[in-house]
Amino acid sequence: MGKQPSGKKPIIIFTKYEPYLVADFEKFVDHQNRDLKVEPVMALCRCGSSKHKPHCDGSHVRSGFVGDKSPDRMKDRAVEYRGTEITIVDNRGVCSHDKSCIRSLPSVFDDKKRRWIDPRGAGADEIIETIKKCPSGALSYKINGIRYQDLDRDPVIRVKKDGPLEVEGHIELKDDMGSKPESGEHYTLCRCGVSKNKPFCDGSHHTIEFRDPE
Ligand code: SF4
Ligand code: FES
Repeated sequence: MGKQPSGKKPIIIFTKYEPYLVADFEKFVDHQNRDLKVEPVMALCRCGSSKHKPHCDGSHVRSGFVGDKSPDRMKDRAVEYRGTEITIVDNRGVCSHDKSCIRSLPSVFDDKKRRWIDPRGAGADEIIETIKKCPSGALSYKINGIRYQDLDRDPVIRVKKDGPLEVEGHIELKDDMGSKPESGEHYTLCRCGVSKNKPFCDGSHHTIEFRDPE
């Protein structure tokens, strides 16, 4: 498991009425992996209205933000696509729709097709490399019946431009709804305030054209 230089274990903790409170973490970067300033405890916006994104400015209080899940969200359900060498496992409920899988390996991942994953469309190594880049944990794979869904990276939170927080490296998530990421190693957290599957991003930031300040 990845570690921080200090040896401290980072945590993201919040209730459904509050921003993400992030404590004891050391690597905070922008979408180009440039370092951002880190404080011992930081409050990061998740209602989408802060004027100081990615930090909270108290806007959630004024807007009465409540981070509930929506009853009509996409089901949180892992579906298997069996191939000869590898089985791809997909949970549409937590996909952040960054389309990196589709761009990397369109012979396997093609969202224009009804059955959007074809595990026979490329070799297992190429598929694994693509799945490792899935930021949300929606994609994982099985070989010989064993599921692989975690990586071994150092803790980092990346602010995706106009999109979610990409969390890597087994950063503990604790909220008052008992939310569990699909992969404990990496997951994406909604920053626009509109996801139906809060706290996780469900790609709704594209629909509302969520934008960070230039
Ligand atoms: S989050 Fe994962 S499954 Fe969703 S589009 Fe990106 S790479 Fe594909
Ligand atoms: S940031 Fe993706 S749904 Fe809110």
